[in-house]
Amino acid sequence: MVMDDGDVRPIGVFDSGVGGLSVLREIARQLPHEDIVYVADTAHCPYGPRPQDEIRRLAAGIISFLIERPPTGRPIKLAVVACNTISAAALAFLRERFPIPIVGMVPAVKPAAASSPRRKVGVIATQTTLQAQVFAELVERFATDVDLYTRVCPRLVEQVERGDLDTAETEALLHMYLDPMVAAGIDTLVLGCTHYPFLLPAIQRVVGSGVSIIDPAPAIARQTERVLEGNQLGAPVGRRGRYLYVTTGDGASFRSLAERLLDRAVAVRTAKWVDGQLYEDQTTHAHDA
Ligand code: DGL
Repeated sequence: MVMDDGDVRPIGVFDSGVGGLSVLREIARQLPHEDIVYVADTAHCPYGPRPQDEIRRLAAGIISFLIERPPTGRPIKLAVVACNTISAAALAFLRERFPIPIVGMVPAVKPAAASSPRRKVGVIATQTTLQAQVFAELVERFATDVDLYTRVCPRLVEQVERGDLDTAETEALLHMYLDPMVAAGIDTLVLGCTHYPFLLPAIQRVVGSGVSIIDPAPAIARQTERVLEGNQLGAPVGRRGRYLYVTTGDGASFRSLAERLLDRAVAVRTAKWVDGQLYEDQTTHAHDA
């Protein structure tokens, strides 16, 4: 059946802030015919140090917003949790509560372990991600025959949110977190937080060209495509996808940072939390091109 364009429901992609844009840009590249609505809960960023219960409540609030009060006027057909922290804390919980398919992510320990020549792999992520039961299970399943070096990286998410992608301060933090891994001889580094791919040039400089860096975004985009196909939810190929961005923080700051990170103009709306529910500030329903 050929869908009328008015029937196309967007994919919802969300994160605590701009990090999930590293996933959005891959989904947009691989699935250019899909509409996407992105939510950044900038008001609560970072999520990493927050308790699991709070992360679950916030993530459920975002998905409810995208289904019940959709800013595009059309409820999302699938949600992508473009955040390792939320996936670690809340994925199973969210899948039990919502009737739509939900794509989540785990640090790319499996492909890293499979490809590491010297069997030494580094993983950087938030505290919630590295302490999660799902991470322990992942290591147990796929990485028992490699030396794994993990590191929680406080303040890196904040550096990205400030747009400090390649400053002396960011580089000093990266040296502090990564020098011990390089000294231990890692040959592969997993970016276990979706904010970190925006630091790629600085990270590569700090670890050197001999270390392969794994950004999970292309694999998440492929998984999104598989889940859409499996549920017969794909938009008609050939149309041009439309994008809308919503932040719970300051719209102008989000817009300028998102435009810099994505290298394109973006349309931004703002939303507010009221009694645990998320509501849009404005009510117009236009998409950007
Ligand atoms: N982008 C999130 C992740 O992938 C960020 C975490 C945070 O808000 O602490 O883990």
